[in-house]
Amino acid sequence: MKNQEKVKQLIDLRERARLGGGKKRIEDQHSKGKMTARERIAILLDEGSFEEFDMFVTHRTEDFGMGDKKFLSDGVVTGHGTIDGRVVYVFAHDFTIFGGSLSETFSLKICKIMDQAMKVGAPVIGINDSGGARIQEGVRSLSGFSELFERNILASGVIPQISAIFGPCAGGAVYSPALTDFIVMSEESSYMFVTGPKVTKTVTGEEISTEDLGGSLVHGTKSGVAHFVSDNEEQGLLLIRKLLGYLPQNNLEDPPMKECNDPVERKSEELNSIIPENSNQPYDVKDVIYHIVDDREFLEVHSTFARNVVIGFARMGGMTVGVVANQPNFLAGVLDINASRKAARFIRFCDAFNVPIVTLVDVPGFLPGSGQEYGGLIVHGAKLMFAYGEASVPKVTVTLRKSYGGAYCVMSSKQLHGDVNYAWPSAEIAVMGPSGAVEILEGKSISEIKDPDQRNKRVAEMEEEYRTKFANPYEAARYGYIDDVIEPSTTRFRIIRALRTLATKRDPGPMKKHSNIPL
Ligand code: HXC
Repeated sequence: MKNQEKVKQLIDLRERARLGGGKKRIEDQHSKGKMTARERIAILLDEGSFEEFDMFVTHRTEDFGMGDKKFLSDGVVTGHGTIDGRVVYVFAHDFTIFGGSLSETFSLKICKIMDQAMKVGAPVIGINDSGGARIQEGVRSLSGFSELFERNILASGVIPQISAIFGPCAGGAVYSPALTDFIVMSEESSYMFVTGPKVTKTVTGEEISTEDLGGSLVHGTKSGVAHFVSDNEEQGLLLIRKLLGYLPQNNLEDPPMKECNDPVERKSEELNSIIPENSNQPYDVKDVIYHIVDDREFLEVHSTFARNVVIGFARMGGMTVGVVANQPNFLAGVLDINASRKAARFIRFCDAFNVPIVTLVDVPGFLPGSGQEYGGLIVHGAKLMFAYGEASVPKVTVTLRKSYGGAYCVMSSKQLHGDVNYAWPSAEIAVMGPSGAVEILEGKSISEIKDPDQRNKRVAEMEEEYRTKFANPYEAARYGYIDDVIEPSTTRFRIIRALRTLATKRDPGPMKKHSNIPL
């Protein structure tokens, strides 16, 4: 073959590889409202930046007539490119080839880019759309999955790993995304479950649809498996670009600084009156967040799951911060199992990737009840405490209103090595709220007052006495547990100044193999 013909052959081969499983299957994919693997990558990465690896790989199976069915790239597109000029590695399942199912060679392709991403120190983004283990390859496929899981585990805390779910993701295949840092599910056509509806019915008798068992609504609101739910694939891919903009490339780097045109000293007078006079009245803590962060930009994570705590990324003075805030607007901001799990994992991510944590506290305590206790609230609450206590990134906390009982200790208190702890004048820091305290301390003597009016008057007096003595920030400030009581309107400036001061913080902690967080 002449050299020119060889070049032509290369061009033809590339053309064939780009067609994946062929035109018909691409049409099928489009008819389901789904993009192909390469179309997805084109949206995710900066234009023209994608360099594809292993385009010529094919599977090595002869069983089940597979010897005659070979497709270039073997069901997964892998390589690297850039997002806003920063290097990322990417793999995208190609559903048009054997339903994106994972073969031995498919796994080797992903492992190759993951190994390189770890050496280079660049994030990995995986776009999932697959029928799971390639049935014709039997245990070799399972081995391929396990190799991938091990890479996910090794890379955890070294490079950010993000998973998009844009199609089926079932069986053990769900565990690769679950081992990554963030999962984005597209509202259209994505689902995740360990066991599908058919097997569920056989084993348990329960009849349930695919959507109800593992659709984006379920994982975005009930299980918390999905951190983000996007309207469609394109929105999901653009969201990943945005998310990465907040993050460092790896655990040895700081998050990127962004030029900040929002004045650091900007005051928000509205914050002086944002807390309702009646301390049982709710307000939206996200209003506080929007007031204090740069340009009112806040990327909320888990926005529809465990809404009693709000988490997400923002910038303050150009620096990335992870915000954790109790939400009085939902279940009065109480801490329960899901809120504890949600916040704990986020804090650990921030700590692993050098993202300072800003905590806004307004929490009446932990949620009482058998449902919570049977579900292991003790362990999940401990998880949150552990995450805060272990985190060595700068931790700046502002107590806005309630901070009662164990929830005081947990929410980045001074004693859990909170670096800077501020409180607003409206803060109430005590063992419990006034009515509970009076009930426990004086219940007997009050019950002896026969006249109901007299009794109510006495209760009100005692509650007021308790409120004046304990339900304020000054008792905690007197002991140095609160570093300063600040005017709410100045919160933005005070947090940014604290973060700038803490930027060189070093707190390595004692030597150990690893901690044993209550899981
Ligand atoms: C090989 C597969 C495949 C698989 C799909 N295909 N899944 N080939 N191994 N696991 C092929 C189909 O034969 C078909 O080929 C093409 O992909 C498209 O599949 P369709 O069924 O036509 O598509 P659709 O109707 O959209 O249904 C998609 C699907 C379904 C829901 C994913 O294909 C399905 O249920 N697949 C099996 C899923 C599964 O049970 N996987 C194993 C899970 S256990 P043709 O040539 O006809 O186009 C597992 C263990 C992992 O993954 C363990 C890790 C620890």
